[in-house]
Amino acid sequence: MKVVAVYSIKGGVGKTTAAVNLAWEAAHDLRVLLWDLDPQGAATYLLQVKPKLKGGVDSLVSGKTVAGAAVRSTTYEQLDVLPADDSYRELDLVFDAAKKSTQRIEKVLDTLADDYDLVILDCPPGASLVAENAMRAADIVVVPLVPSPLSLRSLDQVKGIVAESTRPAPILGFLSMVDRRKTVHREAVESLHNDHKEVIELVVPSTVIVERMGTERAPIATYAPRAEATLAYERLWKRIQSVVKAKQAKHKR
Ligand SMILES: Nc1ncnc2c1ncn2[C@@H]1O[C@H](COP(=O)(O)OP(=O)(O)OP(=O)(O)O)[C@@H](O)[C@H]1O
Ligand SMILES: [Mg+2]
Repeated sequence: MKVVAVYSIKGGVGKTTAAVNLAWEAAHDLRVLLWDLDPQGAATYLLQVKPKLKGGVDSLVSGKTVAGAAVRSTTYEQLDVLPADDSYRELDLVFDAAKKSTQRIEKVLDTLADDYDLVILDCPPGASLVAENAMRAADIVVVPLVPSPLSLRSLDQVKGIVAESTRPAPILGFLSMVDRRKTVHREAVESLHNDHKEVIELVVPSTVIVERMGTERAPIATYAPRAEATLAYERLWKRIQSVVKAKQAKHKR
């Protein structure tokens, strides 16, 4: 089982959007679990899963709730969700109170290793213990970067957190919400890619098609299969896959 963490310290940069669309792409070939780690529950909502975790996240982390029993299926084959609910607001405290507090996500995932080929972690923003846990569990850290001079700062911050992990995972940054009509965007795209080996030359355009996810409550490929943004997430998944080389599931859909 491979683990992809979609993460940035910065909020609202396209983490959840990427996590949901990547999960959908990956589920063509792999058994995929999307773990929504954010109390906002946006990924849970976008995949039309009920934001309910019996016993709360405390119980999940302590092992009282078996993770496999908390997982919910979606309408898509091979794509399941571990939903977030309000109890995730306390997740940092729950981890802090636990033994080996940076290894709790890994521990929960250990119990699911036979059931999934790929886990995508939709991380909340911020530099929390949740982030440390996600970085520790990750085989790759995918970082959406909005094209602004501040992006650089958020990329450096992620690098710092990953570097502190005992098992630093490779980082893959990509440009999210790009409006090529804006000079500042075009410049940011160019300089980020040229100056940072972690940032790939892949751009997700800023488009209403992506915004529509909130009303469609579905991955964009399902309602706009040929849109530029859809193709961008498809290519992004291929890049991630070439880094993590997750094994193919037996059952193709
Ligand atoms: N390429 C895009 N074009 C237009 N809107 C986008 C694009 N990507 C994301 N958005 C919109 O931007 C908002 C934030 O995106 P998203 O929720 O994916 O960010 P996030 O990083 O997960 O945020 P948070 O830090 O709150 O978890 C959403 O309303 C989403 O629909
Ligand atoms: Mg999010």
